[in-house]
Amino acid sequence: MKAIKKYVHQLFSKDSTGHDFHHMKRVAKLSKSIALQEGANVFVAEAGGWLHDIGDVKLFANPSEAREDMASFLHKIKIDEEIVLKIINAIKDISFRDGKIPDSLEGKIIQDADRLDAIGAIGIARTFAYGGAKGQLLYDTKNSQDTSIQHFHDKLLLLKDGMNTSFARELAEERHAFMEDFLERFYKEW
Ligand code: NI
Repeated sequence: MKAIKKYVHQLFSKDSTGHDFHHMKRVAKLSKSIALQEGANVFVAEAGGWLHDIGDVKLFANPSEAREDMASFLHKIKIDEEIVLKIINAIKDISFRDGKIPDSLEGKIIQDADRLDAIGAIGIARTFAYGGAKGQLLYDTKNSQDTSIQHFHDKLLLLKDGMNTSFARELAEERHAFMEDFLERFYKEW
């Protein structure tokens, strides 16, 4: 796990889009907690949490090369082939864009952890960081398309109802309520 952490740090320490090393760390820790709760393979869930954004099309110029690199790194640090395949399988279907539910329990858990990190106070901070990094406006009353505020309606407010595990569903409730409060105040102050 130490080697994986170092590898992830190399890839994401300079990220300013909300997908930095600390996002990976939170998702790894949360995945581990949920895995313990749900009786899943804890190593696969935690390792997958660390590695889940590798090969994301919005973060990597060459996604398939990034994923191949990751696989050879996992082999190099002598993780059993069977476990490597489980990790790769767990993280392949987690993205919101693809609209898939991972087939393995570990995949479902990592998807939940990633989505929990997209909502609540951290989710709000990450949304505006991403918007800034991509040159988006905060908000625009005339044309809200492609603004950071629109992202709450297109994605973030929908995540609560799509959680796979009961642990995540419970945690999502309060984070969701906080985002609704935030938006209400935002519109009021605007
Ligand atoms: Ni992520």
